[in-house]
Amino acid sequence: EKSGYDTFMEKEINDQPHAVADTLLGRTDADGNLRLDELHIEEDELRAVTKIVIVACGTAAYAGMVAKYAIERWTRIPVEVELAHEFRYRDPVIDGHTLVVSISQSGETMDTLMAVRHAKELGAKTVSICNTHGSTIPRESDAVLYTHAGPEIAVASTKAFLAQITASYILGLYLASLRGESYGRDAAEIMAELQGVPAKIEELLTTMDRVKEIAYFMADSRSVLFLGRHVGYPVAMEGALKLKELAYIHAEGFAAGELKHGPIALIEPGQPVFVIVPSPDSEHGLHGKVVSNIQEIRARGARTLVIAEEGDEDVVPFADEVIRVPRTSPLLAPLLTVVPLQVFALHLSTAKGLDVDQPRNLAKSVTVE
Ligand code: F6R
Repeated sequence: EKSGYDTFMEKEINDQPHAVADTLLGRTDADGNLRLDELHIEEDELRAVTKIVIVACGTAAYAGMVAKYAIERWTRIPVEVELAHEFRYRDPVIDGHTLVVSISQSGETMDTLMAVRHAKELGAKTVSICNTHGSTIPRESDAVLYTHAGPEIAVASTKAFLAQITASYILGLYLASLRGESYGRDAAEIMAELQGVPAKIEELLTTMDRVKEIAYFMADSRSVLFLGRHVGYPVAMEGALKLKELAYIHAEGFAAGELKHGPIALIEPGQPVFVIVPSPDSEHGLHGKVVSNIQEIRARGARTLVIAEEGDEDVVPFADEVIRVPRTSPLLAPLLTVVPLQVFALHLSTAKGLDVDQPRNLAKSVTVE
């Protein structure tokens, strides 16, 4: 059942093109317009939404953080992302015009389930983005948008993360088109670009040999930092989480803009730092700002492992290693940039002789609070 791979995690990383493609499947009509008949909430109710709150834990929460950038941009509805276990105990400001979107691979995470119940008590509409048919969270939600990643066996989440981002993007585009937003009118175009992502992941997966080598060289690392900005920020945190849980290495993800507000003090000669570089097409000069960050940490001796788009030559002078990802529009980049970070954690864990599929102290679904 590992289809020739040594571990479930490796198989699931390689399944990611399908996880994205299958999650996109059947959600557009012949003209490329979005059809979410499965979303059993009245269109008028969706049009009346004034706030979206995404609740989730761990990797699913990072998918939510990525989704916030896209959904706010496309719908102009304010989006909050909250860890499900914090949401409940905070007296959140929620009403009948709030859409609470839970994201969960298993559909059984107790913290997320409790957040959904709490949201319903407060009168919110609840949508579940979930990978497991018939599980508790979708059953208790008003509506569900399933991710079609297939069963995820490895404890560390990989393909579910990509499918969660994909599904939440579909939801965002659907809301945008219902509400007559301009991005809603472009939905078919953005969907077409999303349809092109699986082939790009496929292509990227064929170029991971160097990442494996780097992981083996770095097997003795005590600490690894990850920097990202905009949608690359949650990707940095996800990269750090993968490394903590799989290789038991201290890892932190930071927003690159925070560097000079503290984390740069951690940089000493030899400190490895992954940097997720925004696309050169990003707005507001974000690309140049992150290139400057690489320069700043390199000048202090950091070993810079740079994830950058194909053709982005600006990073080369300041990078100890450049890991290339195919070009795509800035909001879709997380579906690519996270892949080398998953592959890195997988191989570093293997290099240390650890159990990749069953890291210590962790369970696949956390059904207690
Ligand atoms: C990390 C990981 C966890 C889960 C989290 C939520 O690799 O797997 O952080 O993402 O426990 O689980 P679900 O998505 O089942 O609610």
